[in-house]
Parts: sequence; structure tokens; C-alpha cells
Amino acid sequence: MKAILAEIDVNAPIPTDEHNKQYYYIKKMQTVLREEELKLGHKVTACINTFGCQMNARDSEKLIGILEHIGYEVTEDETADLVIYNTCTVRDNANQRVYGRLGFLHSMKKKNPEKKIALCGCMMQEPSVIEKIQKSYSFVNLIFGTHNIFKFAELLYTMYSSDRMVIDIWEDTDKIVEDLPVERKYPFKSGINIMFGCNNFCSYCIVPYVRGRERSRNPKDIIREIEQLVAEGVVEVMLLGQNVNSYGKNLEEPMTFAQLLQEVEKIEGLERIRFMTSHPKDLSDELIEVMKNSKKICKHLHLPLQSGSTRILKEMNRRYTKEQYLALAKKIREEIPDISLTTDIIVGFPGETSEDVEETISVVKEVQYDNAFTFIYSKRTGTPAAAMENQVPEDVVKEGFDKLLKVVQETARSRVGRMQGQIQAALVEEMNEHDTSLVTGRLSNNTIVHFPGDESLIGKIVDVKLTECHGFYYTGEMI
Ligand code: SAH
Ligand code: SF4
Ligand code: F3S
Repeated sequence: MKAILAEIDVNAPIPTDEHNKQYYYIKKMQTVLREEELKLGHKVTACINTFGCQMNARDSEKLIGILEHIGYEVTEDETADLVIYNTCTVRDNANQRVYGRLGFLHSMKKKNPEKKIALCGCMMQEPSVIEKIQKSYSFVNLIFGTHNIFKFAELLYTMYSSDRMVIDIWEDTDKIVEDLPVERKYPFKSGINIMFGCNNFCSYCIVPYVRGRERSRNPKDIIREIEQLVAEGVVEVMLLGQNVNSYGKNLEEPMTFAQLLQEVEKIEGLERIRFMTSHPKDLSDELIEVMKNSKKICKHLHLPLQSGSTRILKEMNRRYTKEQYLALAKKIREEIPDISLTTDIIVGFPGETSEDVEETISVVKEVQYDNAFTFIYSKRTGTPAAAMENQVPEDVVKEGFDKLLKVVQETARSRVGRMQGQIQAALVEEMNEHDTSLVTGRLSNNTIVHFPGDESLIGKIVDVKLTECHGFYYTGEMI
């Protein structure tokens, strides 16, 4: 990366190629930053606060990569000179948190008028949000969306040369800009985007509107990126997409997700492969076969159910029935017996009755999930479900939600507990937050184990005896 920057001449015309153009702006920003530094009398600091899913977490790593190349000192402290919120809008409470925190940033900015505030991510793709920020949060300096994060350096350059709010939102894109800087949170594991966007339009979901149409990355670019990561010490990758099972359909030379996994498996030095998220309607036998025979793909599958009622599933536009889902889960359990299955469930979708919730509960009991994320339905403006008439009253939703949660917790506890006494490989991820004599590791099936160890183990895969189950996690001993 340094070599690319050294070759760029900031006095020459702006490069037309997008990749070089962004390096040009990184270099331009280096000069701007030196001027800022002189003005402020200290090294310019920047802080990113990330909301939402792994896609956003990965995007933030890209933004941090650009910030570090420019020369910012990246901190986790929101008193920084530049604060960026990478936002999520999948449920309304995510939005409310952002508005709440913006009030807090405003009071900081009043004391320090040089402070710069930038907003990006999924929430910014909604026109109503932009209107609200322009009206009520006019102290914000920069707003951009999900499709143009690659031009962050250019946007910052515009922001520093303007005294008005800079807004750059793209409705959609077919562009994928490769090989920009990225700074990983963990040295030993990394997320990798394999595709962007979503074409499924589940009727409750805003993601297709804020992340655009489905686009797969070229397999060569994915493999090259993973090889590079492995060379830097990464042992585990998480392949990211809203619906990884439809990977490759729009490539010039189409390829299935299962085929991509086989290519990733061949990468020497890579130990573990994870992926997120699988849509049940597209999960192929080929994928089950590949998972079954793989030495590297982790024994964990996140398979969002959303509802166990065929009637509600139809209204949700999920394109599978309760029976089809159950048959799929059964097949997976038969083929890969030690796999752990996790899921997402929504309670309170318009028109949902207590009988529908019972159907969902019966699926949870039958599938025996190792974990399930349960969400209360949130009405998202612009989605088909928001216009449905029979929205469920809050108290009814709450009742169904509590009932489901109880079953989910009971099943998860008994599922997780089944490994008591076993010896399993764990990737050590960090020191234990509460007890510094312990480290925290993750098993192939995603279960967490705490055991005695020190910092030197971080990033290593070690064998651990699972001595005691504490509900959703284990304590153990390294052997
Ligand atoms: N692409 C992934 C999920 C992305 S959003 C998939 O299809 O599985 C993550 C989860 O948020 C979803 O699985 C769903 O359970 C939940 N979710 C999405 N929209 C929601 C809404 N409007 N209200 C409540 N939960 C929602
Ligand atoms: Fe949303 Fe459905 Fe796409 Fe997942 S598959 S992101 S739930 S529209
Ligand atoms: Fe949220 Fe966007 Fe992810 S809406 S869940 S951050 S794709």
C-alpha cells in the first residue's frame, strides 16, 4: 500500500481509475491532516462507533483502514476530533440509539466547535432520515451511505474544504472497488465480503432497500484476499453475505457457494471457515455435502427461521413452508450429526396469532437450536409489511415473545450442555473480561469456553476439556 501511495503525484490530474483516485485522495488528505494537526496542536484523533451486523463491522474495518493510511490516530473514545457513526436500521431501536447519541455528540461539539461528526451506514440510505438530520441535527459535517464507503478519503477531503453539511448518498451501485486499505479488529480472524446487497425482499425487511441489489465478488478476488490474510496470520475467516447460498449467480462465469467454499478450503494455512447468512430456500444438497466432507468449515449453521407458521412465512415472502424447513433441518442433522444450528425469529409480524406463535415454538422444540436470536417485529417504512393492516398490539406481542424466549432458552441450555466432558479444539480469541487468569475461546460450533491461560495463547487453536457447562458457555482446561 505504501508503494502505491509513494507513486501518486497529488499535483498531477486526478486519476480516472477509481482505485488510484482513492489513493490520490488519501495522499491529499495527509496534507490536510498535517494542517489540522498544526491548528489543533495535537495528533488528530478519530473514533468509529459501529451499530448493526457483521457487514457493518467489516465496513468499519475498511473505514479505519483509510483513516490510518491518512494518518489519524484511531481511538475508541468519542471525545475524538472526528467521530463516525456507522449506523443500522434493521429495527427502529437501532435508529433511536443513534438519535440519542447524536444529542450527546452535539453537547461535546458545543464545547469543541472544531469537532467533526460523520454518519454513514444503512440508516443513511433512507431519505426520511436524511431530512430529519438536515432539520434537527444540522451540526453533522458529513453523511454518506452504504454504496460509497470506498470513497471515504475523497468525502473527508470535501468535508474539510466545506463549511456546510456534505451529503453523498447513492441509491444503488453495480460497482465493487477492490484492494483498498482495511484494518482488522482481530489479527487472527477476519470477515470477508463475498457478496453485497439482497434480492429477497422479505416483506418486513429494509435491508434490500438500504444495501441494494445482490452483487457477488469475483472468486479470484476473494481467494486472493484470503491468501493475503492468511499470510498476515489469520486462521479463521467468516464469509459474509445477506444470503450466501445465492452467491455467484450473477457472475460472468456463474459459480455456486459450495464451489466457492471448496476453493477456500484449499488455501494452505487457513484453519477455519465460517459463513453468514444462509437463506433456507437456497440451501443446496451440494452445500450439505461440502460441509460434511470439509475439514475446515465449522460445525455451525445459522439458518434463520423467522416464523414456524406457513401462513406467516407466506406473508413474510420467505418462500418455504414449515414442513420444508423442518425437512431441511432434519437432513442437515442426519448428514452432519455434531453440527450446531442457530436461528433468527421474529415475533409480532402483522396478523400473527397465538396459534402462529405456537407453531414457531413447535419448530424450536423439534429442531433443538443451539441458540436463537428472537426479535420483536419492527415496522420499517417502505416495506410491504408496514402497509399491512393487522399490526399486532404490543401486549399480545410481548406475551408471545416471552413464551417463545423461555422455550428457546431451555432448548439452548440442553443442547449446549451435551458436550460436557468432551475435548474440543478452541480458537483463543481474548483474555477473559472479568478474570485475567482466564482466556476465552470459541469452539468450531461457535460455543464459548473460558479456561486458564495467558495472552500468548491468543490467536492459537488449542485442545480444551469442557469441564462444566454454565447454561450457554463452558469453563474448561487446556490439555
Ligand atoms: N440476511 C439475513 C438477515 C439480516 S437481518 C437473513 O435473511 O437471515 C437479521 C435479522 O433481523 C433477520 O434474520 C430478522 O430476524 C431480523 N429482522 C429483519 N427485519 C426485521 C424487522 N422489521 N423487525 C424485526 N426483526 C427484523
Ligand atoms: Fe432481509 Fe430477507 Fe434479505 Fe435477509 S434475506 S436481508 S431478511 S430481505
Ligand atoms: Fe443493520 Fe444494515 Fe446490517 S440495516 S443489520 S447494519 S445490513
